[in-house]
Amino acid sequence: MPLQAKADIVFSVHANNPPFVYVEGKELKGFAVDLAKEIGKVLNEKVDFLPTSYQSEAIEAVKDGRADAVLVMGFYEGAGNSLVPTDPYFYPYYVMAVRKGSNLKLDDLKQKSVAVVGGSALESYLISNGFKNVVSLASHEEVLEALESGQVDGAFMVEQSYGYLTEKLEISDTILLPEKVQLAQYAIGVSEKNSILRVRLNDAIRQLQVSGVYDQLVERWLGKNELSPAFVNTLVRNIAIGAAIGAIVVALVFYWVLKMLRSNRRELAAAYEQLAAENQQLLASYEEILNANKELEDMRAKEKSLLGLMGQLRPDVEDESFYSYLLELALSLVPEAQAGSILVRDDDGYVRFRAIRGYSSLLSTLDLRPEWVYRPQGVEVVRELRDSAMPPEIAAVFSSARPSPIVVSLAAPLIVNKQWYGSVFVDSFEEVDFNEQSIELFDSLTSLASAFTALKVHERTANRFLKEIILILVKALEYRDPYTAGHSERVAKIASDFASFIGYTGSTSEDIYWAGILHDIGKVGVPDFVLKKPGSLTPEEYAEMKKHPVFSEEILEGSETLRKYAKWVGSHHERWDGKGYPKGLVGEEIPLEGRILSLADSFDAMSTDRPYRKGKNIQESIEEILRCSGTQFDPYLATQFAHFLKRYFL
Ligand SMILES: [Fe+2]
Ligand SMILES: [Fe+2]
Repeated sequence: MPLQAKADIVFSVHANNPPFVYVEGKELKGFAVDLAKEIGKVLNEKVDFLPTSYQSEAIEAVKDGRADAVLVMGFYEGAGNSLVPTDPYFYPYYVMAVRKGSNLKLDDLKQKSVAVVGGSALESYLISNGFKNVVSLASHEEVLEALESGQVDGAFMVEQSYGYLTEKLEISDTILLPEKVQLAQYAIGVSEKNSILRVRLNDAIRQLQVSGVYDQLVERWLGKNELSPAFVNTLVRNIAIGAAIGAIVVALVFYWVLKMLRSNRRELAAAYEQLAAENQQLLASYEEILNANKELEDMRAKEKSLLGLMGQLRPDVEDESFYSYLLELALSLVPEAQAGSILVRDDDGYVRFRAIRGYSSLLSTLDLRPEWVYRPQGVEVVRELRDSAMPPEIAAVFSSARPSPIVVSLAAPLIVNKQWYGSVFVDSFEEVDFNEQSIELFDSLTSLASAFTALKVHERTANRFLKEIILILVKALEYRDPYTAGHSERVAKIASDFASFIGYTGSTSEDIYWAGILHDIGKVGVPDFVLKKPGSLTPEEYAEMKKHPVFSEEILEGSETLRKYAKWVGSHHERWDGKGYPKGLVGEEIPLEGRILSLADSFDAMSTDRPYRKGKNIQESIEEILRCSGTQFDPYLATQFAHFLKRYFL
């Protein structure tokens, strides 16, 4: 295989190490050869090979400059290296083969003859571990044939070579000793002087491992998936290297996280190809960056602000504050732009401005139809963004809202479930070219915005779903208990309105609403003959009925989302004077929310018609509540509830 003059990276290879590197016909093949080709793709470099007959020749070729790296360098703990290894890309076991039926143990072989490929790490392992009669041969085939023909008693090689060759050469009368002799490592060997190449190779190998390409190669060449230990090991090493190399690796990992956010797992491989180009750029400027302190600090500041934004990716962060922060950051990272905006589609189908910089806040009052809004496909440089899709009166608001016409914009979509959910724009009022770094940072930022939007959309959907389920359950309960139809919803409404009326701040009045909806859910546990009995209940039946707040509490305790309401609903039949049920709590032992529910519940019960009596009117209800103040009801709340009823119901 002639060395081509123009290759970017030349790997010297000891061409006799199947299935890692070997010659078939005139072609160089094997796992390591394919790995090198993939590394070339990742680094966007042309890769070539310099085959040699001995490992020592391959090493010499790197030392005298004919090659850049030795593709397969075997290492094991304690062995000296004449080249600097990359992170290991494979962890082979050294194994010992003997003839079937020989009964030789590993220790016995130290006094016997063992064949091995000369000039290899395998050979030096044998020599330094007390094997007295090491027979060095030119190839693995020769080693195996020497064993088979009885010239030697043992054959020492890598597990994968043994498996591959015995199958290929149809050797069936040899066997491996049961113990694996030594865990070794395969890495690429680089000259000490070429540390940048080493960094780049490491990065490429890591990318291939994460993108799954490495896995495929192992699968194809080595049969089983050996990824896990190697990958974990490499990762651990990379963390250590990351600490040493500092900003560069931090940047790489950071971009990687951004890509992860943007892509689902399936798209990760594609993102990696893109990433390769970016990494290459970064690494090419490795030395420059190390020297250019100012640039480095600038970059760190940007990373920090992006990391800060990632910290905001939580469902409890308000839309407005997230989008404003993001837009502000976008404008600081894209210095070419002077203004910007973020538009998001709401559940009602209208699109609204969620963040505005450099334009009149008038824009935030507009309800826009999606078809009026520019919807970019990906990150786009848009010139002369027109308002022509809008009705003239809306377009007029737009043109009055900006200081001068927009000349050029960077635009990106917010995508959730492959659907357009909004657009992010940063705009310039003069002709500029956005530089590559600006575009990349904008891309990363808007990916975060998509992630945040998705988080919010999913949260809303989940909440809606939960609420619908609760309402269906309560409706189902009321089918069983027709006298209380609509009771839960009325209690919910009154309790939450009353909570707002007294300036309740312990939780949101929406929480009180849901507790109201659920307060009698425990009636599902009360037998039909009690629940549906039209007349008054016997003491036994009443005892059954009194269990329902306990059941309500237990049911809600079982739900992670609704657990916070459990104690409230469990206490809606407690009384201020301690004569209530189920626990007989007294005064402020009863949760405030339970006392509010109790008032709303009692009011609804007394004011609703029952088959056996007519409901009280509002005035009568107020009198009844005040009469029970201090006995059944919290006196302060009872007075306030009377005010509340007078104000809203009289
Ligand atoms: Fe109740
Ligand atoms: Fe009730």
